[in-house]
Amino acid sequence: MEFDNEESESSEQVVNPWAVSAKNGGKIDYDKLIDKFGCQRIEESLINRVQRLTSRQPHVFLRRGVFFAHRDFNMILDSYERGEKFYLYTGRGPSSESLHLGHLIPFMFTKYLQDAFKVPLVIQITDDEKSIWKNLKPEESIRLGRENVKDIIACGFDVTRTFIFSDFATVGGKFYENMVEVSKCVTLNKIMATFGFTGEDPVAKISFPAVQAVPSFSSSFPHLFPVEENIPCLIPCAIDQDPYFRMTRDVAPRLGYRKPALIESSFFPALRASSGKMSASDANSAIYMNDSAKDIKKKISGAVSGGRDNMDDHKKYGANLEEDIPFKYLSFFLEDDAELEHIRKEYGEGRMPTGAVKMRLTQVLTEIVENHRRARAAVTEQMVDAFMTARLLPSMFE
Ligand code: TRP
Repeated sequence: MEFDNEESESSEQVVNPWAVSAKNGGKIDYDKLIDKFGCQRIEESLINRVQRLTSRQPHVFLRRGVFFAHRDFNMILDSYERGEKFYLYTGRGPSSESLHLGHLIPFMFTKYLQDAFKVPLVIQITDDEKSIWKNLKPEESIRLGRENVKDIIACGFDVTRTFIFSDFATVGGKFYENMVEVSKCVTLNKIMATFGFTGEDPVAKISFPAVQAVPSFSSSFPHLFPVEENIPCLIPCAIDQDPYFRMTRDVAPRLGYRKPALIESSFFPALRASSGKMSASDANSAIYMNDSAKDIKKKISGAVSGGRDNMDDHKKYGANLEEDIPFKYLSFFLEDDAELEHIRKEYGEGRMPTGAVKMRLTQVLTEIVENHRRARAAVTEQMVDAFMTARLLPSMFE
């Protein structure tokens, strides 16, 4: 999910793993996306159920609708309630050296799921994917992958329950058997339609989706799961990854496997444009995990604001919270519900100035980025090797 928000004024909304753009430069219509993809909205009752089952407050990303859509998440909860096992699967295409805040959202959320449900997790580093799409030499893609793994580990994953793997290093054995089985079920026509490939695309692209599909099947990891067990899989991801898993869900029953369940997030908005998601090409429109406190302050001060042009209008009309990026960011990252509500009211009714909202956000993000930097600096090469070694995880469900 590292594709730039295409600024083109397309007359249709486009959301796929490589491009996200709203209709006529406006906002992404998530209701429409849910309809088109055929997933379900996460309702309040589902969130309450998560709270009951895990006996802890659901993550802010769930409470505040960052993760807003799902496929069969309720079925995962059903089986969990019956005392059955499941595992988590997520991933990252390593296309840049440093990650921005938007990249870390799925990982922060996955870490919460792992802690709350006490389940194993596999994280796929698609160094092959980025070598294909960004035309990188495999060794460069592998190097970026390892760098990104440090950021991922810094999110706090539990090494006794987490296996991180590079595709280049891993594809083979049962994993590859499953890839071939998946590929046998997908025609060229089907894959071209699902992903928008054309006859001009390299064959490498056409063969890639099977690689992202098979971690959804527990038998791909014989060192973790007994091959015959067929353990259900839950995939937290941004909704642009949905085509991969639509394809996977389509073929799963034909192979005698369960369909993976999904829990899907919206895109994290860019600081400077309220339409798509953070763009990697405009450094000022994203907060990077290696930004200094000064960078963060400067970027936030330039963010798109819903505050009015002058104090009188601001007091009279209040801020437009729909358009206000700093408020939106606070709704993602300020954990305190009461404080967020206070800001919503005071700022929305014009009693709180824009500067105060930006200042609060600067504090919140500086702290998150600082903590991340510290955690990442403590990640050693040995720790990376430990997470990335194919091994048994003896107490991964406890
Ligand atoms: N294709 C994803 C990306 O470009 C990486 C990825 C692989 C992934 N497997 C995944 C993301 C499973 C979410 C869930 O970043």
